[in-house]
Amino acid sequence: MTLISLLTINRSFHGTGAQETGKALIESTCKKTQYPEECISALESDPSSFNANLTGLTRIAVQKSESKLIETLNIVNKFVLNETDYLTWGFLVFCRDSYNASVPQIQAGLQAFDKLEFEKSYRSVEAVNKAVVECDKQGLKMISQVNSGLFRLTKDATSILDLLF
Ligand SMILES: *[C@@H]1O[C@H](CO)[C@@H](O)[C@H](O)[C@H]1NC(C)=O
Ligand SMILES: *[C@@H]1O[C@H](CO)[C@@H](O)[C@H](O)[C@H]1NC(C)=O
Ligand SMILES: *[C@@H]1O[C@H](CO)[C@@H](O)[C@H](O)[C@H]1NC(C)=O
Repeated sequence: MTLISLLTINRSFHGTGAQETGKALIESTCKKTQYPEECISALESDPSSFNANLTGLTRIAVQKSESKLIETLNIVNKFVLNETDYLTWGFLVFCRDSYNASVPQIQAGLQAFDKLEFEKSYRSVEAVNKAVVECDKQGLKMISQVNSGLFRLTKDATSILDLLF
């Protein structure tokens, strides 16, 4: 316990320098988003966040959005394969196809990020967020929770991307 506290204190002291990094930067950045708790837990799940500046953190947020999209797509696809009600199956296919189409888009958005084309990257994340909204309109209760996670993460990622413009 003591060792952990000391490490944490030590880490926060490093964060008070001229350029904020580590936990302090993650928290101050995520405070500027709509869902700070989700933002913090997503960023902190990648250890490299603790050494990243704002640009690095933003890239991680876009990356996390990509992996969350793929994870959600896989879950939706499992429901598609299992569904026996035709109407519900159709709604699930709508979501599955729209998420599937978003994957190459956000991957292009990550490449754009590395070329410092932040606006293009922003639009790719925003497109995923819109796809979630459209999917949610289908009223599929079994995926509402995973959709909510993807919605919040992509919303926060666009807020963080906004800080770079
Ligand atoms: C942020 O960190 C990266 C290396 O991870 C560096 O290339 C870049 O210049 C830094 N940006 C700023 C604004 O300090
Ligand atoms: C799919 O159906 C199988 C067998 O009924 C079940 O065990 C499994 O939990 C279902 N998966 C999903 C994602 O609903
Ligand atoms: C998902 O999109 C890829 C192209 O990016 C396509 O090849 C694949 O067939 C699609 N999968 C489904 C299940 O629609």
